[in-house]
Amino acid sequence: MSTQPNTMLITGATHGLGRALALRLAGPDTLLVLHGRDAGRAAEVRDEVRAAGGRAEVLLADLADLREVDRLADAVLDGFERLDVLVNNAGIGTGAPGAPRRQNADGVELRFAVNYLAGYRLADRLLPRLTGTAGRIVNVASAGQHPIDFTDPQLLAHYDGGRAYCQAKLAQIIHAFDLAERLTAAGSPVTVNALHPATYMPTGMVLESGVTPVSTIEEGTTATLALVTGDPGTRTGRYYNGLREAHPHRQAYDPAARAQLRELSAGLVRAVLGT
Ligand SMILES: NC(=O)c1ccc[n+]([C@@H]2O[C@H](COP(=O)([O-])OP(=O)(O)OC[C@H]3O[C@@H](n4cnc5c(N)ncnc54)[C@H](OP(=O)(O)O)[C@@H]3O)[C@@H](O)[C@H]2O)c1
Repeated sequence: MSTQPNTMLITGATHGLGRALALRLAGPDTLLVLHGRDAGRAAEVRDEVRAAGGRAEVLLADLADLREVDRLADAVLDGFERLDVLVNNAGIGTGAPGAPRRQNADGVELRFAVNYLAGYRLADRLLPRLTGTAGRIVNVASAGQHPIDFTDPQLLAHYDGGRAYCQAKLAQIIHAFDLAERLTAAGSPVTVNALHPATYMPTGMVLESGVTPVSTIEEGTTATLALVTGDPGTRTGRYYNGLREAHPHRQAYDPAARAQLRELSAGLVRAVLGT
């Protein structure tokens, strides 16, 4: 049996919910792999976790770039014998009202790339390590959901920041449902769930958008913890609104949409990484 401690990768651990989750999980028996894109901010959170008696290491990557996502996956696979939980938490918000469409260097709409595609790829790459520990994947999604128009998933025609954010969040839920179903069918013990942590927590993206916060970061952290370490996380293919199991947008139940998202995602990865 592995002598490595319980190991959890949290993306976007430098601010808001990710940072709060890391601090709540800090303890001697858990090794936190804290992902950030800025070395200074990531080191600060690592030091906070250590000061609280926890164990933490930092890995850096800009999740807008699939090559960096892959390097992050490589670093996890090379550096850690064990992985118990992947929390796909990093994200960018809706942006300012009327803000123009942005895309990454490969032409993928930015919110789709960061909020969804990076987590899709990380899950794919890290699954073999998670299988060894009966691990969990937690997609931090949102109650803000918009169906994906598969004729224009890059929102070239009708871009709106809110729609871009919400379609990426629904993509995370569709992915969780789809992957959970396939893993269960294959007899894998790995669970995959998605959640809306809480509504308008006072985090970076909410403050940036000018919305008045409604709930606390603690509420969102508690809901996320339930899937990371609690009993709800032993079930699979579920969506939670806070601590309550809930129904996401109906597109998440549509087998055709799941297949289309699977194909779209694999195609985007293939186009950039050639695999
Ligand atoms: N706040 C809410 O009320 C709310 C509600 C529902 C769902 N959520 C979800 O909760 C999750 C966490 O967001 P938050 O509210 O805590 O917002 P936040 O404070 O803005 O934190 C976002 C995190 O994602 C990271 N990130 C953004 N773009 C990145 C990129 N290109 N590469 C790598 N990391 C990147 C940020 O890194 P930097 O520190 O470098 O910026 C930061 O650590 C998101 O998935 C969000 O959609 C939030």
